[in-house]
Amino acid sequence: MEQADRQDVRSRLQAREQAVAARWLEAIVDTGFVPANLTEVSRQVASWTAQVGDLLAAEAWAPEAARSVGAALGRLHAREAETLAQTLAALGQEILVGMPPGRAAVLQPRLVAILAAIAAGFLQQAQATLLEEQELARDALAVALRRSEARYRAIFQHSALGIALLDMHGRILETNAALHTILGYGAAELRHVPAVGITHPEDVAKTLRFYDEIMSGRRDQGQLVKRYRHQDGQIVYARLSMSLVREDGGEPQFAITLVEDLTARRRAEAERLDAFRGLTARVEAERLRLARELHDGPMQTLLGALGYLGAYERATDQAAARPHLQTARRLVAGVVDMLRTLAGELRPPVLERYGLAAALRSHASEIQAAHPELEMHVDVAPGYRPLPERMELALFRICQEALRNVVDHARARHAWLRLDMEAGGVTLEVRDDGAGFAPPVSLRDLARQGHFGLLSMEERTKAIAGDLTVRSSPGQGTSITVVAPRRRARRAKG
Ligand SMILES: Nc1ncnc2c1ncn2[C@@H]1O[C@H](COP(=O)(O)OP(=O)(O)O)[C@@H](O)[C@H]1O
Ligand SMILES: [Mg+2]
Repeated sequence: MEQADRQDVRSRLQAREQAVAARWLEAIVDTGFVPANLTEVSRQVASWTAQVGDLLAAEAWAPEAARSVGAALGRLHAREAETLAQTLAALGQEILVGMPPGRAAVLQPRLVAILAAIAAGFLQQAQATLLEEQELARDALAVALRRSEARYRAIFQHSALGIALLDMHGRILETNAALHTILGYGAAELRHVPAVGITHPEDVAKTLRFYDEIMSGRRDQGQLVKRYRHQDGQIVYARLSMSLVREDGGEPQFAITLVEDLTARRRAEAERLDAFRGLTARVEAERLRLARELHDGPMQTLLGALGYLGAYERATDQAAARPHLQTARRLVAGVVDMLRTLAGELRPPVLERYGLAAALRSHASEIQAAHPELEMHVDVAPGYRPLPERMELALFRICQEALRNVVDHARARHAWLRLDMEAGGVTLEVRDDGAGFAPPVSLRDLARQGHFGLLSMEERTKAIAGDLTVRSSPGQGTSITVVAPRRRARRAKG
């Protein structure tokens, strides 16, 4: 093209520059991006349109300049293929409008080259942006991983629970400081002793079963209370919680075991129980002493006083004094009755005087009188022969406690009290047809919740070398049975 022709082309292009820019802007504004600043974008598009016009009219072909227009567009709006498509379409259709056909034909190849370069620049920029974003994401991920790793470390190291990480062959990969304290072995030692080696011999079988269930994947997690053997030989009671760690729900990769040391708690519990046992025996002894003292001391004195009052009443000739003396006698007699009842509760007098069978009958009829809604059935086998005093007292107390539970908890219609004497021993049963309950595996669990009745029955049974059976289930009534050998009544512990 001649210089003059170029000049003509340039001026034609400049004349249409605004229209082309407007069309371009309109084409890309809808391609999904929200321009932060529309004025700025339209300024840019205007400047790119001018550049494209210059490139088209210029004598020398400058592909780099065209690419840089594409790159600038890409920076503005890098990922939308639609932006590029609309750009190419708008420029392709719009820029040569109004150009004489001869000129347009000459300019066409240059225009195609310009559009191709814009596309290349745009794609290059898009790629660069993508890489940059990927890198940013990777860095962010690395930071997050480092952070969560640090958090995991902190939990692992400072946890009060012992923690062991095992592979799926049961090999120890990692252990924490708390576990070393609980077991008395360091990390390296634990990695080499087999789990069986640090387990109390009696708990080895159940530990292996437990491990097998988890490691085989039959269960994803479980708990086990077991005994370890501390490095110093002491027994450690522990609760184990083991869970499998699966990667994205697939094959298990690790097993994580949390170990809670229960030894201190067990010891405190045992101490409480010992204290309670001692207390039962001491309370009983104290009751006997009090009963005896009430009987021998104040009661005798008051009975004496009653005698004197009576004698005085008979002897006096002051008629006016008589009603006062009678009132005084009634008051004193009332106190004597109260003391007698009190002493009777402290030490059942019928038991002392007439023995267990009579005492049980008398106690049952007292309950019957106080609770007419409950029908009491007493079945005391004939041929009752006296038992050692301590045994009778223990059995009587157990019966009292059991019947108190019937009254307090059972809402029963019938209660049965049975005492059987066999050659070798004695059986006492208290049964009801009431609400029933689910007895815990260990009566200590009840004591832990502040219910001492059943536990004290058990303690008293143990003290006479007997066996206590508690049978009950909700809706099925309750039966408490004590079987004790006749002779071998031991002294209570404590
Ligand atoms: N005969 C019974 N019928 C129904 N529930 C009973 C009976 N005996 C005991 N229980 C249940 O067992 C629990 C424990 O009884 P116990 O050890 O005597 O403590 P306490 O009577 O102080 O609650 C009672 O709270 C009650 O829920
Ligand atoms: Mg009770």
